[in-house]
Amino acid sequence: MTKDQLSKEDLNSEESVDGKSSQDKPLDEKTTEDFAKYFQTTYQPPNINKARKRFREDIEVHYDFEIPEDMRNVGRDKKFLIQTYGCQMNEHDTEVMAGIFQEMGYEVTVEKEEADVILLNTCAIRENAENKVFGEIGHLKALKRENPDLIIGVCGCMSQQETVVNRIMQKHQHVDLIFGTHNIHRLPVLIKEAMFSKAQVVEVWSKEGDIYENLPKARAGKIKAWVNIMYGCDKFCTFCIVPMTRGKQRSRRPEDIIQEVRHLAAQGYKEVTLLGQNVNAYGKDFEDIDYKFGDLLNDLHKIDIPRIRFTSPHPRDFDDHCIEVMSKGGNLLNHIHMPVQSGNSEILRRMNRKYTREEYLELVRKIKEAIPNVTLTTDIIVGFPNETEEQFQDTLSLVEEVGFEAAYTFIYSPREGTPDAAREDNVPLEEKRERLARLNELINKQSAEAMKSYEGKTVKVLVEGESKRDPDILSGYTEKNKVVNFKGPKSIVGEIVDVKITESRTWSLNGELVSSEVGVK
Ligand code: 5AD
Ligand code: SF4
Repeated sequence: MTKDQLSKEDLNSEESVDGKSSQDKPLDEKTTEDFAKYFQTTYQPPNINKARKRFREDIEVHYDFEIPEDMRNVGRDKKFLIQTYGCQMNEHDTEVMAGIFQEMGYEVTVEKEEADVILLNTCAIRENAENKVFGEIGHLKALKRENPDLIIGVCGCMSQQETVVNRIMQKHQHVDLIFGTHNIHRLPVLIKEAMFSKAQVVEVWSKEGDIYENLPKARAGKIKAWVNIMYGCDKFCTFCIVPMTRGKQRSRRPEDIIQEVRHLAAQGYKEVTLLGQNVNAYGKDFEDIDYKFGDLLNDLHKIDIPRIRFTSPHPRDFDDHCIEVMSKGGNLLNHIHMPVQSGNSEILRRMNRKYTREEYLELVRKIKEAIPNVTLTTDIIVGFPNETEEQFQDTLSLVEEVGFEAAYTFIYSPREGTPDAAREDNVPLEEKRERLARLNELINKQSAEAMKSYEGKTVKVLVEGESKRDPDILSGYTEKNKVVNFKGPKSIVGEIVDVKITESRTWSLNGELVSSEVGVK
């Protein structure tokens, strides 16, 4: 099947980026030139200057999502598989897409060979994430050759980038469908187009999406759930592609979030994680109400669900009200994952993080004072362009000073469309790798020490299931998100139980069951 034509009718629709109608030809008459026009007139590649100037249009909230009549049964006797890369936001988007597939009659599968649709839900945050996806796209070619009816789709953050979309269109003709992060609600229509069109279907809107409230969700578990509270990000850290791939900040209405969490509690979920690219900037985009992240936490605090987490907050948006609400404890856990990125004020300035080392440390002091026994974890980038050894040392000393118990650590990866991508960089990769190793050594040491302090103590564990390595062992997470392995009856899966820690490892704890809230049957 040749696919040198663009087949996206909706590129011309009112809803597309600029609403220009340059392509009114029928699908099969479209040529490569038409398709090039798409990028000139409709698609806007990541561009930080333009993105920064974006204005706040009214975000519409839609409550009326429906699978189109003619697509309700197309998935009968068919199977779908979604491979997810990247962050929790993507995991949750996958749950929404899985929900839509199921409403179309599709069944889930984990076997590529028996899938009728395979979607790769991609991540653009670092280059290695993208490389993995391109590797997988390559592998899928053989499968498509064997089964030409298979629909292969690429969605998620990578598909928001022009270079990626171009590369797929030019070199990976076996991909049937490419759609962006604002187009998930269009999945049924896109699948239909991919089924009936001979050409590659591309739908990427760089206009920030509206909010779709009633999309179906096939949640991955029955114990813990993700709850999106806002989309997009307006912070523009200079290393980060997210404001371009996910668009401007849009917060969900408080009543919709509260209702979702209440519903999850009623269904027996024990933990929710509130999701947002910059989760504690929640509400800053509301023009009609004064309702911020602290207010939301305060309202969720009253709901009868044992655990509420959130990820990831920005230090700059961590206000006193939020700290005060968190200090009430209860279901607001005393573990905060708060990305610092660097311990050096000059690097932080160049990253456009809008806080200094001193301000971060002051925030940590306030948090520690207000929330007893709080645990802090973080994200750190090493080898930011031209980072000196001294500046890196500031990161090491900050890690020690705060006492982070864990951290996601990364080597800086230039992202096209971000200001730092073009910056000259005098730090060799070898040096960056060596800095990462030194940082990880320190983090591992601090983690091991923190874990050691649990020995002999009793902790509350939300039991999630059998341990991956040994079915006789149960596994769960403490309030501070430490993995605990212990022996116990399967009947306590989904319960919060007391476990006495007998042994610590760097990243996990072993223990013995003490009691369960409901009693061990
Ligand atoms: N290079 C390396 N790490 C990055 N992150 C975001 N963008 C980049 C990049 N270009 C890291 C940050 C962020 C986490 C989700 O990913 O630490 O907090
Ligand atoms: Fe990226 Fe987070 Fe900065 Fe937003 S706040 S630009 S998502 S690193």
